[in-house]
Amino acid sequence: MYILGLNAYHADSSAAIFKDGIMIAATEEERFRRVKHWAGFPSMAVRFCLQEAGIGLSQVDHIAIGRDPYAKLGKKLLFLAGHPGGGWSAVRDRLNNAKKVASLETELTAIDPSVDVRLLKSRIHQVEHHRSHLGSAFFASPFEEAALLSIDGSGDFSTAMIGTGKGNKINILDSVDFPHSVGLFYTAFTQLLGFPHYGDEYKVMGLAPYGKPEYVDRLRDVLVFLPNGLFRLNTKYFRDARSGIISYGEDHIPVVAPLYSDHMVEKFGAPRKKEEALTQYHKDMAASVQRITEELIFHILTHLHKMTGLENVCIAGGVAQNSVANGKLTRNTPFKQVYIPSAGHDAGISMGSALYVYNHILDQPRAEPIWSAYTGSRFTNEAIEKYLRSRNIEYQVFPDEQLYETVADRLIDAGVIGWFNGRAEFGPRALGARSILADPRRSDAKDLLNSKIKRRESFRPFAPSILKEYIPEYFEVTDNVPFMEKVFPIRMEKRASIPAVTHADGTGRLQSVDKVVSPRYYRLIEAFYKKTGVPILLNTSFNENEPIVNSPEEALECFLRTSMDMLVLENCVITR
Ligand SMILES: [Fe+2]
Repeated sequence: MYILGLNAYHADSSAAIFKDGIMIAATEEERFRRVKHWAGFPSMAVRFCLQEAGIGLSQVDHIAIGRDPYAKLGKKLLFLAGHPGGGWSAVRDRLNNAKKVASLETELTAIDPSVDVRLLKSRIHQVEHHRSHLGSAFFASPFEEAALLSIDGSGDFSTAMIGTGKGNKINILDSVDFPHSVGLFYTAFTQLLGFPHYGDEYKVMGLAPYGKPEYVDRLRDVLVFLPNGLFRLNTKYFRDARSGIISYGEDHIPVVAPLYSDHMVEKFGAPRKKEEALTQYHKDMAASVQRITEELIFHILTHLHKMTGLENVCIAGGVAQNSVANGKLTRNTPFKQVYIPSAGHDAGISMGSALYVYNHILDQPRAEPIWSAYTGSRFTNEAIEKYLRSRNIEYQVFPDEQLYETVADRLIDAGVIGWFNGRAEFGPRALGARSILADPRRSDAKDLLNSKIKRRESFRPFAPSILKEYIPEYFEVTDNVPFMEKVFPIRMEKRASIPAVTHADGTGRLQSVDKVVSPRYYRLIEAFYKKTGVPILLNTSFNENEPIVNSPEEALECFLRTSMDMLVLENCVITR
C-alpha cells in the first residue's frame, strides 16, 4: 500500500511517500525550487517521491494532506467576523484557503495527466495540522505508548495540542486556539530584536547565552501560564491577528507581518533596525524570551505527565525546533525519554499526515522507528563523474578508505570541506549528507568558515557531529541525538579542546553519529579521530544563503562561489 503525504500551501512545503508504512522518500520542496521555506504546492517533491517509489500517481492508494480548513471552523469564523478590522473579508480569505485544498486534484493531475480525477479525489484525506505533527512524532518514535505535544506558531487555528499515543492510535486531550501561541510570542520578540524573516527564531536562541534572563518577570504579563497546564497570550501586546499573520506572495516565500502592538513597543522598546548594533539589552531580552519559553514547555510537560502518568514524550511543531529547550527536558520534567522527528517543523507535516492515515485511520500496524533522516535526493558516482566531465572540472576518485584519510588530513590542515554523501536529509539540519565540515579543535574555525563561506552573525554557534559511543566522554547528558535536535552542556574539561563547536555558555548542539544509520560519515569521523584523538567534526549545512544544496550541480556552484578548500561528491574529490 502506497501513501503519499503532503504539506502544501504552507511554509516548508514537502512530500513524503510510504510503502506499507515504511518511509521510502521525503523531501522539502525548497530543495528543488531553491527558495527557502517555499510555501506553494510541492509538485517537484511529489515527482521525486513517485520516482523513488518507482510508481505513477494512479498507483498511490491514499493521499494525505496535513491541513483541514474545516477544523475548528466555527471558532475561526466567530473570531474573524467578530472584529471590525477583520470582518467578512477575512472570512472570505480563510474560505479561499479552503478552496486551495479543493484544487489539490488539479495540482496532482498536472503531475500525472493520465490519472482519473474522481479516483484521485476519493483517495484524498485531510488530516488536521497538529494531528499531523503528532503523527510525525509518535508513529516514528520507538515508544509503544507516549505522551504527545505539538507546539508551533499556528496551524488549522490551533497553536498547541496535547494527547497520548498508544499502538497505532492517537488520542487528543486538549488544545490551544489561535491567537494564543507560544510560537507567535517567540516570533514577535524575534522581530523586535531585529530579525524579521520567517524562520529567524533560531537567531534569538543563539543570542540568548550572551545575555542574562533579567526580564522574565516582565514577560510573565505577555505569556501567561494557566493552572490547567496550558497558556494564553495577553493580546494587548500583539497586533490584531484577524487581518492575517503570514502571507505567501507569488514567489511562495512566507512573510510574517509585524506581530507586536504599540503597547509592546512601549513596554519593551522599538524594534532594532538592521544596522543597529546588538546591545546588552537585546541580549538580555533574547535570554529572557528563551528562558520563559523553556519554562512554559516544562510547565506544559509537567502537567501532561501528571495527566497521563507516561514516561516518554514525543514532540513536534515549530517550537520543537528549539534545541536548547529540548536538551533540558529530561532534567526539568518527569519524562524519561524524548523523541523529536528530523523534520519537527512544518515540513514534517507530509510525513505525519501519511503516518496518521496509515496507522490511525487505516488501522495498520506501526513500522520500525525512524532514526534516519536520509530520505532525499541521491546520486551515483557515475552520474557525478558524467556531470563533472561535462563541466570540464578536474577531479580524483578515491576508494572509501583512502577518501576518509584524504579528507581527514585536509581537515587537520585547516581545510573547509564540502561533503556530499548519500541521500539528502529531510528536515532543517545537515547531518553529514549535505554538510560543510571543519576541524572542531581550531579556535579560529568560526572565522575561517565565516571568511570562506558563511557570512553569518558572529554569535551563532557551529554544531558538533560526534561518534555516538563518545557522547559520555564529551557531554554531561548521555542521550541519543540523531537529528541535532537537542543542545547539551559540554563537559567542562573538554570545552577547550573543541572551541569551534562550544557555544558561549559551554553547550553544543550535537548530532550523535550512528555506525549503522550513517556508515560513511561515521567512518570519516573515525578516520579523523584516529589521527587527532577527537571523535568530533564541526558540521554546518552545505549552503550559502540558500536552501541546503540538493544536487552535485548546486554543490559545485556553492564550492566555486565560495573559498571552500575541497569538495567531496561521493567518491569524487575536487580541490581548489
Ligand atoms: Fe506547524
